[in-house]
Amino acid sequence: MATTIPAFRLNADTEIPAVGFGTYLIQPDETAAAVGAAIASGYRHIDTASVYENEEGVGEGIRTGLKTTRLSREDIFVTTKLWPGNPGWGERPKSEPEVLAEFDASLARLGLDYVDLYLIHSPHGGTQRIGQWRALVQLKQAGKVRSIGVSNFNQKHLEELKATGLPMPEANQIELHPWSQKPALIACMRENSIAPIAYSSLAPLSTWRAGPGQESAKTDKMKADSHVFIDMAAKYGVSEAQLLLRWGVQSGYAVLPKSLNPQRMRQNLDLFRFSIDSEDMDLIKTMDRGDGIAWSMGDPTSIE
Ligand SMILES: NC(=O)c1ccc[n+]([C@@H]2O[C@H](COP(=O)([O-])OP(=O)(O)OC[C@H]3O[C@@H](n4cnc5c(N)ncnc54)[C@H](OP(=O)(O)O)[C@@H]3O)[C@@H](O)[C@H]2O)c1
Repeated sequence: MATTIPAFRLNADTEIPAVGFGTYLIQPDETAAAVGAAIASGYRHIDTASVYENEEGVGEGIRTGLKTTRLSREDIFVTTKLWPGNPGWGERPKSEPEVLAEFDASLARLGLDYVDLYLIHSPHGGTQRIGQWRALVQLKQAGKVRSIGVSNFNQKHLEELKATGLPMPEANQIELHPWSQKPALIACMRENSIAPIAYSSLAPLSTWRAGPGQESAKTDKMKADSHVFIDMAAKYGVSEAQLLLRWGVQSGYAVLPKSLNPQRMRQNLDLFRFSIDSEDMDLIKTMDRGDGIAWSMGDPTSIE
């Protein structure tokens, strides 16, 4: 399938493909094959993180994928993330120099000499949060990353960064789907030109992370009204997953579906032959239930 994937702008020089391949919960020994297959299927963005412990496999999969497709490194957008250290898990937040060293370790594991997007994975850095951000600004200035951003940051965390006068994040990767639409956070991000990147777009699917060992905090009540998406998908002649992903890209969010199934991998890229009409977009707007399922943002006005 020849795929032309639209892109969203991150900064003057960098665009992010509207669909990327997610790698969370892909085991290290399965990662290279999955990423190689994703690139061969048409994916041009791979999303990983140091905490997924699969950066080596991602790097190997990229090298195989480039060989198979005869593409070059510049054709692939690579995101990885800094684990900031979470005192709630007994970890010490990383200092500014430790962030610089951790970035180099990620690059070495990936076998790359730059990444397209480097994110602070979560706001758990606490008192080190600003120093961590300063380190990302330095990495961009040094040309080691093309764009920088954050993940799971709420409005207060973004305001905290703004108050420093440092350059603002170019993206915030957050859980976004019809059940968790976060309109206030999105408005704040739009005001500050911070691109939304959506993860766990498929959370409303009844089968989402249904496999053994894949955690899901979904209640039976949540599972009960999924017929809305099933009915809507049937109207457009697409799968429920395609409908949910299309909602993301149509809302202006880059999406990151993860699948190990080759057919679903290809299906999740095929989002540009239909569009959701305004009546259905309005109906989906009414389905927001607030906080996420994969990640609780908690109180959006809290700086913790
Ligand atoms: N920044 C963060 O804190 C954060 C948090 C979570 C995720 N992420 C990123 O976002 C990516 C995506 O999020 P996610 O992995 O949580 O969930 P997701 O991509 O929304 O959903 C993955 C689940 O849906 C299934 N699936 C995929 N395509 C399908 C289809 N077409 N039909 C039916 N089922 C399908 C997958 O199973 P199969 O593999 O069997 O198809 C898997 O169980 C992650 O991989 C990661 O890169 C970031």
